[in-house]
Amino acid sequence: MARRSQGIIITDKYQMRTWARSMRHNSIALVPTMGFLHDGHLSLIQEAHNHAQLVVVSIYVNPSQFAPSEDLSTYPSDFDADIRKLMTVPGGVDVIFHPHNLYDYGVESAMDCAGMANVSCLEESGSGHETWVRVERLEKGMCGRSRPVFFRGVATVVAKLFNIVDPDVALFGKKDYQQWRIIDRMVRDLDFPVKIVGFEIVRDADGLAMSSRNVRLSPIERQKALSINRSLSKAKSAAEQGELNCKSLKNLVVDEIQEAGGELDYAEIVEQKSLEAVEEIKSPVVILIAVWFGKVRLIDNIEINI
Ligand code: PAJ
Repeated sequence: MARRSQGIIITDKYQMRTWARSMRHNSIALVPTMGFLHDGHLSLIQEAHNHAQLVVVSIYVNPSQFAPSEDLSTYPSDFDADIRKLMTVPGGVDVIFHPHNLYDYGVESAMDCAGMANVSCLEESGSGHETWVRVERLEKGMCGRSRPVFFRGVATVVAKLFNIVDPDVALFGKKDYQQWRIIDRMVRDLDFPVKIVGFEIVRDADGLAMSSRNVRLSPIERQKALSINRSLSKAKSAAEQGELNCKSLKNLVVDEIQEAGGELDYAEIVEQKSLEAVEEIKSPVVILIAVWFGKVRLIDNIEINI
């Protein structure tokens, strides 16, 4: 356990649990992250102080949510910079949980994953882990379609973090809308005693949603990527002015993004909680999109509360 002027760094999952148990008389908020922190993360962490007495931030690039073909090895990380940024958060943080042994069970793998479809980097590495949390319907569409192992990896690592940190509340950004809804459903369905808070999307001044992946955009790609928020805002204004047909609204989004040279992975208009597709807006919906600019896949969304 290393001590910092603000908070402590814990790298061992058993020590994390010991700390959490010793703090039981306080309320604990957990903010799970994969690090390479930006102002979106920092606002989320600051918000955590409004929900509990103690704030734990986890920094862990979770191999189980990446497929071997995805960007685990190039996922950006800079732990020292993260620590410095966390020190700027008003109120600081009480614990930075940076586990080195999250999937380490002291066992040899019994599994050979070579050639198997739908495996994650974790299975490929042969850790022996074989228990998964699946939120079966919510994980299917949108990001789950193009990233088949993603949400079971997310739900599983978040369940593990909840079991280790035992938080009263956990905060998730609405930027990852489907992820937030999946975690909320997992907590309800499995009776985790954790309140889930969804936090508004933090954007750069030009409207691009902050993301750890933005650093991989070239200046030209970044400029083109502004079409994402522009297209979503356009569709929202059209809906507010009475265009309630989802096909027409989707076309507005698709046209704007294709004109800018983005390659659409998906654009869906769905009911906010069930994430079921709708044809005509009659109740609150959200437009969810994922777009490739060059080698970078960006996601974004906008809620329409009609
Ligand atoms: P990561 O991408 O690091 O995001 C950590 C948290 O920060 C998520 O809840 C995400 O929605 C939130 N966040 C990211 N960018 C944001 C923005 N611009 N505005 C508001 N919130 C934002 O999401 C993950 O990590 C992982 O999947 C994780 C949940 C940690 C599981 O491994």
